[in-house]
Amino acid sequence: MNLKDITIRRTRQADLIDAIMLVMNTANHLRRKRGMSINRFKKPKQPPPLMVHFLKTDPDGSFVAHDRTGKLVGFALSLIREDEWFLSQLFVDPTLQSKGIGQKLLDKAMRYGKKNNCKRWALVTFSYNPQAIAVYTKMGMPPQRPLLTMERKRKDGEAFKKLRAPIKLTVTKITEEKYINRLTTLDRRARQLARPEEHFFWLADESYNTLIFHDGKKLVGYVVVNSRGMIAPVVASEPKYLVSLLAHAVEWGTAQGHKYQILFVQGEQLEVIRTLMTAGFHIDETTLVMASEQVSDPKLYIPATLAHF
Ligand SMILES: CC(C)(COP(=O)(O)OP(=O)(O)OC[C@H]1O[C@@H](n2cnc3c(N)ncnc32)[C@H](O)[C@@H]1OP(=O)(O)O)[C@@H](O)C(=O)NCCC(=O)NCCS
Repeated sequence: MNLKDITIRRTRQADLIDAIMLVMNTANHLRRKRGMSINRFKKPKQPPPLMVHFLKTDPDGSFVAHDRTGKLVGFALSLIREDEWFLSQLFVDPTLQSKGIGQKLLDKAMRYGKKNNCKRWALVTFSYNPQAIAVYTKMGMPPQRPLLTMERKRKDGEAFKKLRAPIKLTVTKITEEKYINRLTTLDRRARQLARPEEHFFWLADESYNTLIFHDGKKLVGYVVVNSRGMIAPVVASEPKYLVSLLAHAVEWGTAQGHKYQILFVQGEQLEVIRTLMTAGFHIDETTLVMASEQVSDPKLYIPATLAHF
């Protein structure tokens, strides 16, 4: 197929089911090529809520490529939060890779960032795809640091090992938007940007729990735990609280009956990694943060999902 047979246009919400199928199939194709096990998935009836949220907040930052039959063969999704542009997704159908479609989609998505005067550029990608690493480095986003996907599972009747928090904190699940200003203050220090959009999303979607933590009367951090066992992000006001926030949040999820737990840990977070390994977490995969400059403080921040760090 020739590049002139490919059309690129803005993504519509109706594209999102095909887009997630392209993402999953393409990621599995890459995993198979590298001798890794594939991730099983079913075609969803509804588009993933996080993708719908991103398309709502950033309708001008997402593009699809389709062929003459209308089949979706490429997908890019980017976000702007304050002055940071973040690439959430970039995938090209394996049969059409290395023909320039990926760079075309990336160029369109980066133009969205340039038009909006973005100063920082970032994404997370697979450490085992040199082609992706090459494309992003060429565009000014070299590898910054590794991210470890860490997870643990238990069977019915088995118990998870306990995590002990070095500093005892009070945990409160919040559902009200009145806390958002305080959460964005924590974000600004730890993640170097405010993300009220995500707080509104996490608070409104029942599958996410926002937990806030106090040391006495002092607010010292927050964690988002979702119903599938994802603990992300963990955001601390001071470095001394990070491991305690993590331990309390993992235990909170365990108390909800989670049989699976997953986090995305920055490579230099030695104490966090050791704490998780002691509790039976395994490193499942390494991904790479690629960025024009550092986009968070690893002493204060364990990332949200790879799709928005
Ligand atoms: C990564 C991906 C989006 C790139 O899209 P694509 O259409 O295949 O890529 P393009 O043809 O536009 O560009 C590839 C470029 O990388 C270069 N490249 C490929 N492998 C390279 C390597 N090992 N070292 C240096 N450059 C390399 C190519 O030469 C080309 O650059 P050029 O046009 O200057 O010659 C696509 O291959 C893909 O979907 N891969 C699997 C999923 C994935 O990893 N996605 C990224 C997740 S964030």
